[in-house]
Amino acid sequence: MAHFTARAPANIAFTKYWGCRDERLTLPFHDTISMNLSACVTETTVEHLATGDEIAIVGPGGDTIALSEGGRRQIAAHLDFLAERAREAGTLRGERPRFRVTSRNSMPAGAGIASSASGFAALTIAAAAAFDLRPDARTASVWARRSGSGSAARSIPDGFVRWHAGSAGDGSDSFAESLFPPDHWDLADIVAIVETAPKRTPSREGHRLAPSSPHFRHRLSLVPERNDRVARALWHRDLELLGSVLEEEALSLHEIAETSATPVRYRSAATHAVLQEVRVLRRSGAAAWFTLDAGPNVHVISEGRDCEKVAAALTALGAVRSLMINHVSAGAHLLGEA
Ligand code: PMV
Repeated sequence: MAHFTARAPANIAFTKYWGCRDERLTLPFHDTISMNLSACVTETTVEHLATGDEIAIVGPGGDTIALSEGGRRQIAAHLDFLAERAREAGTLRGERPRFRVTSRNSMPAGAGIASSASGFAALTIAAAAAFDLRPDARTASVWARRSGSGSAARSIPDGFVRWHAGSAGDGSDSFAESLFPPDHWDLADIVAIVETAPKRTPSREGHRLAPSSPHFRHRLSLVPERNDRVARALWHRDLELLGSVLEEEALSLHEIAETSATPVRYRSAATHAVLQEVRVLRRSGAAAWFTLDAGPNVHVISEGRDCEKVAAALTALGAVRSLMINHVSAGAHLLGEA
């Protein structure tokens, strides 16, 4: 049977997507900017099957990760969505074929290291190929966004990426594009893993709750200036400028989560221990700035010679189980078809 494999990076958001203005179309309230990660990746193979979809998510140790019923439905719905694109393009007639989907992650799933972003970006590219579709990067990012995991849109283009919120009612102008290629700036994202269990409140729920926070409107008024600052910092390769936004945005995301109608607490004592160490490192002159996604693990952004010092200090912390060191990566691409 024919099979198609795609690889996609996870990405770390410098400015955060948190809250959805249209859940069905996965449309954000504002633009966000991110960096694609070289070590946190998903490789997904899609093969035709005679009957019934089979879906397997495989972790870094080769272990099969239990997939929730919701997760299974989200993947099947995305395959249905892509089948619809194939019918429009005339490459599919009638029923959607069934597939075996095997998704291999280099990072622990569900721990706030955006395995859903890399997973749905890789699925989009591999399944599109299985439907004989070869979307351009803009179209692929719109399709990846429609998976329901919006940040997957940012895992499609290369390097440093901006996801435009867009204003069209149908979401056709809400896509991600590359601002700079991976070799523009040798930043590192050192992920300090303090916990590998899946988070209890998925991002989808967090997006739903976000507007109920009394701080949400104020946050929306601040993000455009933060995006401008990130764009300037990238252009000038100014880590101090970038770092100031990183930490404001990470703390803002968690403030919103913790003050939503149903408060969501993603940070643990171990998270705070790492944040404290990052501040200590900075006072000692090392370039180190933290950011967080919707999980307890900490992303420490650094560059050049300071990376080794930062990695050594984090390794020495009792709270840290392991590190994943990422450089800036290309976006999603097809690895092969056979
Ligand atoms: O794309 P989702 O629905 O998994 O949401 C991602 C949310 C954050 O990772 C917390 C922030 C972001 O912009 O990546």
